[in-house]
Amino acid sequence: MRNKANSQSTLENELVLEGPLADSILDTLLQKEIPIDHSCGGNAACGTCRIVILSGGENLNQRTTEEQDFIEGRGWREEERLACQCLLNKGTLSLKIPQ
Ligand code: FES
Repeated sequence: MRNKANSQSTLENELVLEGPLADSILDTLLQKEIPIDHSCGGNAACGTCRIVILSGGENLNQRTTEEQDFIEGRGWREEERLACQCLLNKGTLSLKIPQ
């Protein structure tokens, strides 16, 4: 599924969002009724909101200390982020939600 701007679809598993967005990536996906787990309610504690950035990562906020600690502790790759901690401040973001 490709989700450009306001929910258009094409490419399977790829979501494209246009910034700036007022809410976190997690909240934006949920508002668009795109299923994504979020067991801890967006507190950087569970990791179930993991997303993989395909492009546009430079348009996101820097990792918070909580997110950095979480990701380092699990050995995630640079392109993996917690959707609940991500803000799209400008531009385009392409991402996948791992299965
Ligand atoms: S919802 Fe738990 S880490 Fe994001």
